[in-house]
Amino acid sequence: MTTIDIDRGSASGGALDFDPFSDVFFNDPYPTYKRLRDEAPVYYSERYDFYAISRHADVTAAYKNFEVFSSSRGVDLNTIRNGFLNRPDMPPPQLIIMMDPPDHNRMRVLVSRVFTPRAIGAMEPTVRDIITGFLDKVDAKKFDVVADWSEKFPVEIICTMLGVPEESRQQIKKWLDRSLTRAPGEIGVSEDGMNAGIEAGMFYYDLVVKKRENPGDDMMSRLIQTEIAREDGTTTSLDDVEIVGFVSLLGGAGAETVTKLVGNAPVCFADNPDQWQKILDDSSKIPGAVEELLRYHPPAQYVCRYTLKDSEMHGVTIPAGKPVLLINGSASRDERVYKDPDRFDIEREQGQNIGFGYGVHSCLGAALARMESRIALELMRERMPKFEVDRSGLQRVNMTNVAGYAHVPVTVLD
Ligand code: HEM
Repeated sequence: MTTIDIDRGSASGGALDFDPFSDVFFNDPYPTYKRLRDEAPVYYSERYDFYAISRHADVTAAYKNFEVFSSSRGVDLNTIRNGFLNRPDMPPPQLIIMMDPPDHNRMRVLVSRVFTPRAIGAMEPTVRDIITGFLDKVDAKKFDVVADWSEKFPVEIICTMLGVPEESRQQIKKWLDRSLTRAPGEIGVSEDGMNAGIEAGMFYYDLVVKKRENPGDDMMSRLIQTEIAREDGTTTSLDDVEIVGFVSLLGGAGAETVTKLVGNAPVCFADNPDQWQKILDDSSKIPGAVEELLRYHPPAQYVCRYTLKDSEMHGVTIPAGKPVLLINGSASRDERVYKDPDRFDIEREQGQNIGFGYGVHSCLGAALARMESRIALELMRERMPKFEVDRSGLQRVNMTNVAGYAHVPVTVLD
């Protein structure tokens, strides 16, 4: 495992230092992003030996160009460098997010059959019940929006859809947190994180075996029954390892990101009371607010790719065989695309919002994430129309790729 000092990642003045593992990054990456866009749109980090792309046009172009910017070695720096779960000797797992076309297309078509907008839409009453149920349990006058609420419902929702038994759903989140959390300055997954990944994998494996014997009306059972066209022209069903990989990915993707988006909401609205007033006056502004939260503070701040060929951008050659960070968090504040990008404005024209990624890997769960976030904001409007954020209690996560709060304590006012 690689560790580094954390007193790095300078935001303003001096040499430009972008360090996605530093405190500066987790606390406020935006001034550094601006410098990257202006001074080094293709940035090279000597410390970590990666390249970073920060302008909207370049990030979207790289997302589309999978022949150069490949996902097949992983989408976070550690996996690209050290292999999945620090196992360079093992072939990368067949996870949809870690595949390039044409393999990716086959998997995506298959999963899209299960994850249809119709299927997601039909879930709305269940999703609303789950989100409301967790909010019913908090102290209505004083609670922690993330720890008491937004970190609980997304995992419950995706696990319900997958068919994970109720008693195990919150455990999935605990495993996930352990595998994503980094000590300050730590890039790689910790030993505890690896154990958590293995425990989760074993849990899912047992469940797949059970569902093969006893299928239910859930996504995991449907995945077991679906067939996929293979590269050699044959058609087979997914094997246990493929299903385990896919459901762990869905569990992970579904659990961490909505938590962060909803956690950012009270802070953004407390900072911008005029925007909250617009929501109070008119609930139809909520979908726009979800898009703006996604643009303003994307929970997935960046994704990584691995270059298969040399490429040139802004006069800089990015050689083959290097990790490249595509920084959504910077692209979505690019003044070349957004007017007054540092202003939080729920009514703005979004253009190509890349908070859910872009191109072949664009978020499969976007419709679900939008629905969950919309319902959460509707409930905030109803149950906490006036509130204060206790800023001394704000605490951020220190995770790879995702950014946001672990704690957002609020007091609901009369
Ligand atoms: C606010 C919430 C969310 C955000 C910000 C988000 C963001 C993203 C991003 C940026 C990507 C692209 C990754 C890449 O290009 O390497 C992605 C892919 C993906 N997301 Fe999400 N996501 C969210 C919620 C969800 C949910 C709720 C689910 C599932 C239940 C989900 C499932 C996936 C999957 C399976 C992929 C991979 C798709 C592929 O490789 O074809 N996401 N997401």
